Amino acid sequence: MSGDRSRSLFEKAKEVFPGGVNSPIRGAVKPWPFFAEKSEGAYIYTVDGARLADYVLAYGPLILGHRHPEVEKAIADQVSRGWLFASPSDVEVALAREILRHVKPGGMVRFVNSGTEATMTAVRLARGVTGRDLIVKFDGCYHGSHDYVLVSAGSAATHFGVPTSSGIPASVSRLTLVARFNDVSGLEQLFENYGNDIAAVIVEPVIANSGVIPPKREFLTALRRLTSSYGSLLIFDEVVTGFRLGLGGAQEYYGVYGDIVVLGKIIGGGLPIGAVVSSREIMSNLTPSGRVFNAGTFNAHPLSMAAGLATLRVLEREPVYRIAREAAKSIEDNLREVLDSIGTSYAVSRVESILQFYVGVDVVEEASHARRANHKLYGLIHEKLLAKGVFITPSNMEAIFTGLPHEGEVLDNTVEAFRSTIREVMRH
Ligand SMILES: Cc1ncc(COP(=O)(O)O)c(C=O)c1O
Repeated sequence: MSGDRSRSLFEKAKEVFPGGVNSPIRGAVKPWPFFAEKSEGAYIYTVDGARLADYVLAYGPLILGHRHPEVEKAIADQVSRGWLFASPSDVEVALAREILRHVKPGGMVRFVNSGTEATMTAVRLARGVTGRDLIVKFDGCYHGSHDYVLVSAGSAATHFGVPTSSGIPASVSRLTLVARFNDVSGLEQLFENYGNDIAAVIVEPVIANSGVIPPKREFLTALRRLTSSYGSLLIFDEVVTGFRLGLGGAQEYYGVYGDIVVLGKIIGGGLPIGAVVSSREIMSNLTPSGRVFNAGTFNAHPLSMAAGLATLRVLEREPVYRIAREAAKSIEDNLREVLDSIGTSYAVSRVESILQFYVGVDVVEEASHARRANHKLYGLIHEKLLAKGVFITPSNMEAIFTGLPHEGEVLDNTVEAFRSTIREVMRH
């Protein structure tokens, strides 16, 4: 619960940061965000003395929970060897090799510092390779905060009412065509009209930024078919789903493969990271071997590399995916039971360890359905859960994440908190 110390820190923060925060969603926690003091396992401890079971997991990266001992040790070991060299280090090669073992289309990697940078680089690469300008994105997908993709974006952009940001020149946003997720005939029409000018389609294979919206199988296969037949590239933004739905991400999960895969979040173990993965042929277009420019002072930062490598090794060895899936399933089952017993219309979407629930709608297959849900009620549920020591995202347009530490007592308490909160809020 956000107490007096957090409140006074937030007052100071508001003097130095727009809205008091450095990323908008953090400001969505009402009446003010809690300030974290430390964290361990499933829990964040606040400066007000509260202990919160964390189901945000930093919006995805912390699938192993907070301060997993192996990740902590890898970071500390790397610190003792130095943390920035402006020259390659062995740990970046090791992480790339680990990623390439699991992520198709294999080939090569470019490490950057965020998912935003990675999708920006992927789009530029696709334009450079194809010599075309148009890209297609889907309503409600979020691909980071750069100009190419901030059109009809989900996530905090929708939560704060700016799905299409101001400050983006019309001449830029005109190059980004927006289609409806899961709408095969709309996509076919779009390709019929513009197909020969489309450099790439960028998509979250599972939308995790309008709550959670799973793809229909025929939608993913249509994406693959249409991009291939028109010579466009298919960019799978697996910043959330990569190494979360399994080691091979959404591609392996659904058996549909893109031309360029964008990764982030989990592959950095909680430190800043982004990555573009594609075939040797496509990747060799990036500088310095090719003419599509990308560079970064912090690219392949040794601390991110070390934390990511340690994280992937735990994922390869431990039953993380099973534990995370069972936790999410348990929350889903209980949500369904309590919402059924109340007799309201609702939808629960879950893919492995990402889930979200929507009250007031029956089905959520595209972003407009998610936008129609009762967000006010969701916000109230979030607030009451927080008061009971359970932290879920404050926005119905984001996802709830589970991970390795979510079993036993913490999960039992969480499920109970969900049940009692929903009864309290919805019986009035
Ligand atoms: C699917 C997806 N792509 C890209 C991004 C941008 O990543 P970052 O916040 O690291 O810039 C996000 C962030 O949440 C995301 O969910």
